[in-house]
Amino acid sequence: MQCDYFDAGTCRSCTLMGQPYAEQVAGKEARARALLEPFAASTTGGIAWLPAVTSAESGFRAKAKMVVGGTVDSPTLGILDAAGRGVDLRHCGIIAPGILAAFPALIGSITRMGLAPYDVPARRGELKHLIVTEAGDGALMVRYVVRSQGAVASIRAHLPWLRDALPPLAVVTANLLPEHKAVLEGEVEVVLTEQAVLPMGVGDLTLQVRPQSFVQTNTAIAAALYRQARDWVDELDPASVWDLYCGVGGFALHGAGSSGSGRAVLGVEVSADAVASAELARDALFTADGDRRRIRFIAADATAFALAAAPDAVPVLVIVNPPRRGLGAELAGWLERRGPAHVVYSSCNVESLARDLAAMPSYRVARARVLDMFPQSSHFEAITLLERA
Ligand SMILES: C[S@@+](CC[C@H](N)C(=O)[O-])C[C@H]1O[C@@H](n2cnc3c(N)ncnc32)[C@H](O)[C@@H]1O
Repeated sequence: MQCDYFDAGTCRSCTLMGQPYAEQVAGKEARARALLEPFAASTTGGIAWLPAVTSAESGFRAKAKMVVGGTVDSPTLGILDAAGRGVDLRHCGIIAPGILAAFPALIGSITRMGLAPYDVPARRGELKHLIVTEAGDGALMVRYVVRSQGAVASIRAHLPWLRDALPPLAVVTANLLPEHKAVLEGEVEVVLTEQAVLPMGVGDLTLQVRPQSFVQTNTAIAAALYRQARDWVDELDPASVWDLYCGVGGFALHGAGSSGSGRAVLGVEVSADAVASAELARDALFTADGDRRRIRFIAADATAFALAAAPDAVPVLVIVNPPRRGLGAELAGWLERRGPAHVVYSSCNVESLARDLAAMPSYRVARARVLDMFPQSSHFEAITLLERA
């Protein structure tokens, strides 16, 4: 893929930009193999590697997190330079075309709403970020990360104009982040549209996404990831499953079996919005009371939850999909001591995956697959099936 921003040195976020795509994927597979092969079962002749799942090279990002800079009359959407000034990347080629097509109206809305972009060095201004998520059907969720209630009122007042200018708009929110802090969003979310949830078709089902919920970056690759997990879970057909770090429930719901199945599924996730999203998706997918009782989600810290569980509550299979930092010593140690015969570990950081595996010597990697969630960057997803040796 060619990128003018990269070639001009304006943005170097995509560190593999310009490298032929097949070479990128081969490099990622080689890295995964080098880091995971030491954890293969010596008796089975190594890890059974499934072919890597490749992505569209461009336009694959279904979620764009844009820093707003510049001025109210001439805003920039993109990143900040080393001095904290806005760098405009409104034509970034890895973002989904439907989101790129929305940028002119969103940039126009900043001017119309009078939202002064936040000036990081001067600590002045109002609008910090725009976070835009696109569902497969083109519907959009737009979140304005602002500092004050005044800005919320202004976005609300101009909503009818924005709806006219941007027909795919489904959900609009204001997220409040008054502090001068290097984070993407704050805790308070004000939903400004009647619709508060973005339905996203991913894999074989529709997830329901509330604003403060993680969604996988690349919808086509997320679909392949959830299907891979579902295939392994269905093959093992466990009576009970935990999905730790479940987000909006993609793994849990794919691994829940069909309606009327006896499989008990529990998703654990720290974000209350994501848990509410997962429950909405479950209720839309499963109408029988029995299914709703056997597929549950709770808001909790994954490590604290596991450590507090009674020995007889440990399920037959655990799925984990932690953030980049990995499981950490405590949860990896708990799995080592108490974990079940099988773990499905999906990771966006093969280094932290390898670190966790080193803390779980009773498990061996039986199967693995690389899924290229993040083309043009060195990042990728790796899903593994672990078995107790
Ligand atoms: C890589 S995402 C995976 C989400 C989900 N499995 C999916 O496929 O969309 C990691 C998730 O872990 C959640 N999380 C972060 N720290 C956590 C913690 N200490 N305990 C439970 N969940 C946590 C995040 O909110 C996020 O939803």
